[in-house]
Amino acid sequence: MKKPTVLVVDDDPKILFAFREVLRKDGYKTVLARDGQEALKKISSDHPGVVFMDITMPKVDGLEVLKQMKTQDERMPIVIITGYGTMQTAIKAIQLGAFEYLTKPLDVGKIRAVTREALASTGRTSSMAGRHGQYHGDMADRYELIGRSAPMQEVYKLIGSISTTPNHTSILILGESGTGKELVARAIHNASPNAHQPFVPIDCTALPEPLLESELFGHEKGAFTGAGERKLGKFEIAQEGTIFLDEIGNLSPHLQQKLLRVLQEREFERLGGNTAIRVGGRFVCATNHDIELEMKNGNFREDLFFRLKVVTVNLPPLRERNEDISHLANYFLMKYNRQLKKSVAGFSDEAMTFLQTYPYPGNVRELENLLERAVMLTKGDVILPDALQEPVLDTSVRSPSLPMMSENFGKSRINLLQMFERQFVSELLRKYHGNVTAAAKGSRMTRQNFQRLMSKHDIKAKSFRG
Ligand SMILES: Nc1ncnc2c1ncn2[C@@H]1O[C@H](COP(=O)(O)OP(=O)(O)OP(=O)(O)O)[C@@H](O)[C@H]1O
Ligand SMILES: [Mg+2]
Repeated sequence: MKKPTVLVVDDDPKILFAFREVLRKDGYKTVLARDGQEALKKISSDHPGVVFMDITMPKVDGLEVLKQMKTQDERMPIVIITGYGTMQTAIKAIQLGAFEYLTKPLDVGKIRAVTREALASTGRTSSMAGRHGQYHGDMADRYELIGRSAPMQEVYKLIGSISTTPNHTSILILGESGTGKELVARAIHNASPNAHQPFVPIDCTALPEPLLESELFGHEKGAFTGAGERKLGKFEIAQEGTIFLDEIGNLSPHLQQKLLRVLQEREFERLGGNTAIRVGGRFVCATNHDIELEMKNGNFREDLFFRLKVVTVNLPPLRERNEDISHLANYFLMKYNRQLKKSVAGFSDEAMTFLQTYPYPGNVRELENLLERAVMLTKGDVILPDALQEPVLDTSVRSPSLPMMSENFGKSRINLLQMFERQFVSELLRKYHGNVTAAAKGSRMTRQNFQRLMSKHDIKAKSFRG
């Protein structure tokens, strides 16, 4: 049987060469193109079964080429490659119908696996591309998620695919406190075709039950004492937009039951009213509690849980994506320079090492607070460790309990162990100025095992040198 053709589009000849070698060994025929125009020609002449394309190329922008390719052949799987994965490009690529979105450096195994999957998928139903709203870049900027780690790339891709689902597909966002759940909810809204409609956030812990109920459902005039005027509830205000229910785990049993009905019937009545009002918005819920545990303990309805989590977005804690820390730190540095009218230029090496090895029980929010304070305190050009140190000491004094505790024993143990490993390896590397052999010797571990821990936690020896 004839093996299919793979088209590779990149302006870097090294990449083209590498692809050709890998794919040839697997018996595929490869066709190469150096820019978008050439790629479009090769599609008509060679009819490739799958396309790999770099998104940043001279002349025409990769996303533009992707769009044109999709009009030429809607079902052809196109894998987008980028050296620089921001949230917008990932979301947009998926919205435009990209099959996969990969970030450099690429590994051979991944290229092989994706090629196989893409070819196997060609029988799939037509892509959703073209029928949906575009990512609303301007509006989104304020709510941009920063971070290019693999787990965040997965989150961006998921946001992209969520934006092509209908509004009655409910979304559940899970993650520890400060991981960016609200930002993700806003990104889902901004990426949707209904981004121009309201985004309505409701904190389920902020109000006592009767008030929350009337906030959500609204009430008719005279529905209860004090209900002087008719009031529209959040479900109504949202129209076809997004209803963001934050801390959903705290919803009372009564409201859980009412919400379940709303989700099932897509209808509700205002308090004291009897006309059915349609709910057009998308429900996005979030919690930082172990909601499955709440369910087992009988505090959260199982039927509601399954209605809410049609799609689940899991936000990883910051300590599991160390490589995002420097991007986030620089982003917040700029943010607070602007806000506080300062011009701090960067971080000393020690300060950056500290930031990269600190375990962040409060996740991104904690990093942000740390930097706000550091920018304020810094008089010179660069942030020094001193400016970061104190609040950290503070937290350890304030919370002598174990960090990152959850009720889940297994999870807590793993968290703690990971934190220990990271700190242990970093401390030793610091002591031995980045000399891995010496650090491994000091630790009484083999060099190999020591290095395994380093790569597990994305710790680079070079950041401890000099
Ligand atoms: N990836 C990110 N990029 C930029 N800023 C972020 C990111 N993640 C979180 N933040 C910032 O960190 C702070 C906390 O984020 P957010 O309020 O979304 O967290 P959360 O998960 O809702 O936390 P909680 O469970 O405590 O409500 C916000 O100021 C947010 O802007
Ligand atoms: Mg929140």
